[in-house]
Amino acid sequence: MPTTIAEKPSAEVPAGAALETLKITDSRTGKSYEIPIEHGTVKAIDLRQIKTGPEDFGLMTYDPAFMNTASCRSKITFIDGEKGILLYRGYPIDQLAEKCSYLQVAYLILYGELPTVTQLHEWTEHVRMHTFVHENVKRLMDGFRYDAHPMGIFVSTLAALSTFYPEAKNVLDADTRQKQVWRLIGKVPTIAAFAYRHSLGMPYVYPDNDLTYAENFLSMMFRVAESKYRPNRVLARALEVLFILHADHEQNCSTNAMRSIGSSQSDPYCSAAGAAAALYGPLHGGANEAVLRMLDEIGSKANVPAFVRDVKEGKGRLMGFGHRVYKNYDPRAKIIKRMADEVFAETEKNPKLEIALELERIALEDEYFVKRKLYPNVDFYSGLIYQAMKFPVDMFPVMFAIPRMSGWLAQWEEMLMSPEQKIARPRQMYLGAQRRNVPA
Ligand code: CMC
Repeated sequence: MPTTIAEKPSAEVPAGAALETLKITDSRTGKSYEIPIEHGTVKAIDLRQIKTGPEDFGLMTYDPAFMNTASCRSKITFIDGEKGILLYRGYPIDQLAEKCSYLQVAYLILYGELPTVTQLHEWTEHVRMHTFVHENVKRLMDGFRYDAHPMGIFVSTLAALSTFYPEAKNVLDADTRQKQVWRLIGKVPTIAAFAYRHSLGMPYVYPDNDLTYAENFLSMMFRVAESKYRPNRVLARALEVLFILHADHEQNCSTNAMRSIGSSQSDPYCSAAGAAAALYGPLHGGANEAVLRMLDEIGSKANVPAFVRDVKEGKGRLMGFGHRVYKNYDPRAKIIKRMADEVFAETEKNPKLEIALELERIALEDEYFVKRKLYPNVDFYSGLIYQAMKFPVDMFPVMFAIPRMSGWLAQWEEMLMSPEQKIARPRQMYLGAQRRNVPA
């Protein structure tokens, strides 16, 4: 007779519904177990009761890098990596990119529904009211060396905000959390732009709240002596779309960092600083910067075949290609590629586009990439657009972090509100030395 591990079905399984189960026979003991399956998953903790004897700790799962582990239940973002589908709260990314503003999408991601006209007005006002930073934040940013990478400044300044808003540590209070959401969404473009201006030694441009979220960011980045910054509408819209495409992407490395740090009930500024630090790496949000450096290194279309050959021989990676979840063309990359033409009609054509197109053409026909299902991801073309819009390469990961703040905060809120939530604390397989004594 199988031993039933979980006696009662989880509260999420409707009463009367047939319980799907997994039958396991432990060949070490000959015992059989029946484990509930819910939403295509089994609970790792259900395996703990599979033991060889009373002294045995019980079976664990081993999954470095979470290749096949769901770390949470979520209702925010859905990805079907095989089909190249991305939905925020059920809405397809291409429809959101076509019809919405970034602040509408941020609201959707955070609160589950697209805002009504009144809700959008209130939300926009709240965000606008929090675009300014304390003068001491500015002075703190002044302390960085002239050549500091803006992402380093960005990460550090996010963490420093925690000292300006000490009440933010009351993470179990809904009103307090809400206030920090307005502050963080409002302030990230300001901090990002100040980090850039600092690297140029140029005076900081204060927020202009007559402008939209994306336009205001362009103003803080690029305004020089003009009394009023007049954004190019096509470029401002392109930036808005890029913000929408980067707003959330379910349990990626930085979001997992946000949830993991937040699970200790750390305040949202420190948690977001940790998430931004995770984003900075070249395998994640730093990839758009790495793509541009790679295109520079390749230099010309003629050098593409040799570069691809090197990648196949294991000498580096084709940056902006491949994804843990997408085994098809990243839907975000499709939208960006289409948008590139509109942007280049307004700016000079980025000469690196030719190299990128040739790389994509060769890679998509090459058995190495086809067999491994490596397609262009969001970072492959975004950098070319940013560069054409005159954003320096160092700023690319920061540009990713600005909109991702809405996703991090939505996932943080969902994590804190989950009744199953506990401090994130994985197990390990200990393979080191057994107990031994220090020599006398
Ligand atoms: N160029 C060449 N080979 C690659 C690449 C690439 N970009 N990506 C994966 N591979 C190969 C890899 O060598 C491995 O081959 P083999 O099976 O022979 O050992 C196979 O494909 C599977 O790769 P993996 O590293 O096990 O896959 P992963 O899911 O752990 O990594 C990834 C995903 C995104 C880190 C990886 O594809 C990569 O390093 N891409 C380049 C960096 C990049 O563009 N990152 C941005 C990701 S999208 C934005 C975001 O969400 O942050």
